[in-house]
Amino acid sequence: MKILATRPLPSSALERLRREAVVESYPEDETMPYEALLSAVAPCDGLICVLTDRIDAAVLAAAPRLKVVSTVAAGTDNIDLRAAAARKIVVTNTPDALTETTADLTWALLLATARRVVEADQALRRGEFRAWQLMGHLGFDVHGKTLGIVGLGRIGRAVARRARGFGMRVLYHNRSRVPDEVEAELGAEWVTLETLLESSHVVSLHTPLTKATHHMIDENALARMRSDAILINVGRGPVVDEAALVTALRGQRIAGAGLDVYEREPELSAGLIELSNTVLLPHIGSASHETRGRMADQAVNDCLAVLAGRAPTHPVKLS
Ligand code: DGY
Repeated sequence: MKILATRPLPSSALERLRREAVVESYPEDETMPYEALLSAVAPCDGLICVLTDRIDAAVLAAAPRLKVVSTVAAGTDNIDLRAAAARKIVVTNTPDALTETTADLTWALLLATARRVVEADQALRRGEFRAWQLMGHLGFDVHGKTLGIVGLGRIGRAVARRARGFGMRVLYHNRSRVPDEVEAELGAEWVTLETLLESSHVVSLHTPLTKATHHMIDENALARMRSDAILINVGRGPVVDEAALVTALRGQRIAGAGLDVYEREPELSAGLIELSNTVLLPHIGSASHETRGRMADQAVNDCLAVLAGRAPTHPVKLS
């Protein structure tokens, strides 16, 4: 059996893979060039990839023996799931492994944005902490405010659970309402997207990227938000129209934004980086030692399971 890994995997996951198969592993922790991927995947039975790899119909067609694509990620918007299904290639992902870690990062970003933590840190490092100020570095309170969660899946729910500690009212918008007992456990109230945008002090995006969610937060949506609200995106960049967001932030139409993901990663829209009312992270939602190890282990286990004729733990279904 031959398996291609498009990134260097943690050593325990790689060793496990090497016990069962011949493994070719791209040596750099950066996106494998598309042409190199096309030729390296050709003789493979399994592919372990990440969210930056474009796994389109051409990649799948280039590998006639391919039985499984295991992505070390929750999101699968980079994989042509229809083309995979047509070729009977199983796709697996790692949704459970990263839930709590991504929710932690959401809160780090939320608090940093609301309380201007990064801006204040940078000011101190520039030698600007000359005296305690009564009116310097004022941010917005988070406790007791309203949190609007768009997408109440695994991560959205974990974010909602943490909001309890901050005494927040939690609104959510989802394709479909979650069961009553989940709403009760989270203390979350379903509202329309319009109501959520108009009522929330923090709007946090946790929806997958689909045709329906592309640019869900556009100029009109931003215009509905409160002027003292912040937008947090730890999901997928193209859910937000980034040019419209820059305009809204520049005009102080909204108070700030905390972003971990971007419309055209790793590029950022013109003007974003100059804005002081933003906290910008390089897509590190699930980046903890423990979680990235778990994600790699899950992807390896599922890849090997499919190749051994067993059912994987996290098959991705076509929706
Ligand atoms: C995912 O797995 O989809 C995340 O974006 C990685 O942090």
